[in-house]
Amino acid sequence: MLEKHKFLERHGLILTIAILVTVSIGGMVEIAPLFYLESTIEEVDGMRPYSPLELAGRDVYVREGCYLCHSQQIRPLRDEVERYGHYSLAAESMYDHPFQWGSKRTGPDLARVGGKYSDEWHRQHLADPRALVPESVMPPYAFLQSRALDYYQAAARLKANRAVGVPYTDEMIENAESDLRAQVDPLSDQYEAFLARYPNAQVRNFDGDAHQLSEMDALIAYMQILGAMVDFETYNAEENYR
Ligand code: HEC
Repeated sequence: MLEKHKFLERHGLILTIAILVTVSIGGMVEIAPLFYLESTIEEVDGMRPYSPLELAGRDVYVREGCYLCHSQQIRPLRDEVERYGHYSLAAESMYDHPFQWGSKRTGPDLARVGGKYSDEWHRQHLADPRALVPESVMPPYAFLQSRALDYYQAAARLKANRAVGVPYTDEMIENAESDLRAQVDPLSDQYEAFLARYPNAQVRNFDGDAHQLSEMDALIAYMQILGAMVDFETYNAEENYR
């Protein structure tokens, strides 16, 4: 046995190949079942794909690099759960492409920021963070308020997400642009149809300015849905574990 090992240790190339074979067996045993297990991502009530407006806001979030300072993943550790709420479930980022877990927390985790503040708070905070939190190092994003949202891309955004597995229907794609406008207008004719497609979506003017559909509207709509889809009053981890 030792003799055979001596042989391996004296031949660098063969040793490298033997190591690769051993490591890949280990890797396969760990990774392969995840592709076949149905419970890799448990299904959780309340999770739905983002509405066109929320998705547009998510794109603003990515474009502005908010993820460089903010994570969206609450770890199952006591200090995190006490500060931010229930730890993040895999299902909560199942429709995120790419996911926004992040690894840097210059600012707080945002996975459950939805509903924590009013729209007006977000608007003022994004326009001038130091007006609300004097010691903040977050940069101001006041320009988002005056930038019109490019909603002609709404359908294309949904299609792109469908291509990577988000279950947007043809109907959702067809109505993407009008759904996007319907979400900021509680009086629109689309109201009911929109809510049927995106249950529990929040419908209102988000940036306080009804004249223009701005990137601020989209970003605040996105902030307000973060962590708000799953109802943790009724969520039961045991029941979901199969
Ligand atoms: C340079 C780092 C940095 C960047 C970039 C940044 N933030 Fe922040 N953010 C912070 C810090 C620090 C705080 C904590 C102080 C405060 O509330 O302003 C914060 C706080 C927040 C809060 C309040 C969170 C809470 O629970 O109190 C929200 C919401 C937020 N940021 C959203 C955003 C969004 C949206 C973007 C991108 C448009 C962004 N941030 C970009 C650093 C950053």
